[in-house]
Amino acid sequence: MNPLLRVTLLGVLLTAVLAIESPAELDPKSIDWSTVRTLQETSKFRAKFGLPPLSDDEIRSSRISGGTIATPTDIPWAAGVLIHGGTSGHSFCSGVLISARFVLTAANCVSGESTVTVALNAANMANIGYLISVSNILIHPNFSWLLGRDDLAILTLSRDAPIDNVTIRPVLMPRRSDAQKSFNDWMATTAGWGNTGNRDDEPIPTQFLQWAMDTVTSNLVCQLSYTWVRSTHICVSTDNGGPCNGDEGAPVTVREAGRIFLIGLHSFHYSGIRGCDRGRSAVNTRITEYLDWIEQNSDVVIQP
Ligand SMILES: *[C@@H]1O[C@H](CO)[C@@H](O)[C@H](O)[C@H]1NC(C)=O
Ligand SMILES: *[C@@H]1O[C@H](CO)[C@@H](O)[C@H](O)[C@H]1NC(C)=O
Repeated sequence: MNPLLRVTLLGVLLTAVLAIESPAELDPKSIDWSTVRTLQETSKFRAKFGLPPLSDDEIRSSRISGGTIATPTDIPWAAGVLIHGGTSGHSFCSGVLISARFVLTAANCVSGESTVTVALNAANMANIGYLISVSNILIHPNFSWLLGRDDLAILTLSRDAPIDNVTIRPVLMPRRSDAQKSFNDWMATTAGWGNTGNRDDEPIPTQFLQWAMDTVTSNLVCQLSYTWVRSTHICVSTDNGGPCNGDEGAPVTVREAGRIFLIGLHSFHYSGIRGCDRGRSAVNTRITEYLDWIEQNSDVVIQP
């Protein structure tokens, strides 16, 4: 985002937040994205680990992971998730449109929050197509923050997403029969607006949606890095770039016979407060383990 634009946006965030409390839609231009923090930077997140709040200077110096810029039609199911965190600051995550009314994101991102807005057709965050407020947040009942387990939440949009099938389209869900697959060694694409590593003081969301393609690693190998990984997780190598701070909730998809479908939702990665390690896999929520829960709590129909 160019500095001029940022200056224009400065100071009107409060207006934007007040606007969300009412059914009125947000004006994309009214958000001051420069005030948005990654989850890891919020005082709420840090307090969980007994860490003191970061100074503004510390927030500006996090380091990052590579990827490729997406065109507006590459990942039409990508959804930006803006969390209006009250006193703990605003934060940002990624998410995925699963039907006109429902978005999946990480529970990590929205647990304890009540005011959330979803950005669609936002491959370029300086030119957001739609911002839609969220009318309900459903956290998976067994979500564990510390273990990164059952890390998913279903967001209900306050109105239907304007699906055009080109820039906005729900992702396909796995079929029930896909639940037997490990997906080990499949190529998987992760897409989000988290930190990219291209500059030191990068605010999130990054202006452009980015994606990286890497192979799914076995849970056994993944457990060498993260001992608490279990069958409800699916890990993806970060050799070609991978998710970083701000990518929580990002969709992980695979392609089979021309059909692209969702297999994961980004949960956590190895990151010091200063960056994301390419040496270890990224850990995602394994969607095939949650097909019943998603079907029961949304209007998505899972195919056999
Ligand atoms: C939560 O965990 C309990 C105990 O393991 C289990 O019985 C229940 O089915 C889980 N809930 C969901 C929605 O998976
Ligand atoms: C999008 O695709 C769906 C499924 O093929 C179709 O039912 C719908 O009419 C399409 N919508 C538009 C706006 O093209």
